[in-house]
Amino acid sequence: MPDMIARYPKALVVLHWATAAAVLGAWATAEGGREVVQHPPLLHFTLGLAVLALVLPRLVLRLMGGTQPDHGSRPLAVAVGAGHALLYALLIALPLTGWHAASQMGVGVQFLGIHLPALTAPVQGRPGIVAEFHESAGSLILLLAGLHAMMALWHQFVLRDGTLRRMSLR
Ligand code: HEM
Ligand code: HEM
Repeated sequence: MPDMIARYPKALVVLHWATAAAVLGAWATAEGGREVVQHPPLLHFTLGLAVLALVLPRLVLRLMGGTQPDHGSRPLAVAVGAGHALLYALLIALPLTGWHAASQMGVGVQFLGIHLPALTAPVQGRPGIVAEFHESAGSLILLLAGLHAMMALWHQFVLRDGTLRRMSLR
């Protein structure tokens, strides 16, 4: 039987799963407050910046074309599109606000051995609203990704429409 499922291009699939792994890793290695200044969580910085490095080419590929979910009814398609757009927005905002938070705490950031410039001058005391946004958004993306994964599994195993195969490497 011919494959009737529209799949995402291979490069997008690889970037999707690498991004998911990096987000999970960044979340699992996150630290807050004084600990960050005393022992900067370098793995957290690296995995978080990897998310940014992966999402930029992904967005370019995505805007050049590629498969979109097919949800017959229009309101549902808009909701799914908005959910995915929010995920993309967080994938960009999280690394940038994290980098900003580190700069504000006076902690140097490097990616694969390259020292990155500070995004803002260090301040004494609490690191401020951008850092707070970063911490909340870090939890939010995990919640959203969890919901997103549950929807994908619902499609796959309850509606049985082969959704997971659209994002599968094989
Ligand atoms: C941090 C984790 C994750 C993030 C940030 C993420 C993000 C995204 C985004 C932004 C899209 C839209 C792709 C596009 O149209 O360009 C997408 C699609 C998809 N994701 Fe994820 N994802 C994550 C984890 C997962 C997991 C764990 C699963 C499976 C259990 C999954 C299954 C899928 C599937 C099947 C699609 C394609 C939906 C369709 O177009 O029909 N994702 N993901
Ligand atoms: C997708 C990527 C990222 C996720 C999911 C994420 C998640 C988190 C979370 C959940 C926290 C709160 C930890 C806690 O309070 O115990 C946190 C804190 C922090 N993250 Fe990230 N992060 C990401 C990327 C980055 C990047 C790229 C950097 C720096 C280059 C960074 C720097 C920081 C700093 C400095 C803090 C401490 C903020 C404070 O205590 O006020 N993060 N991150």
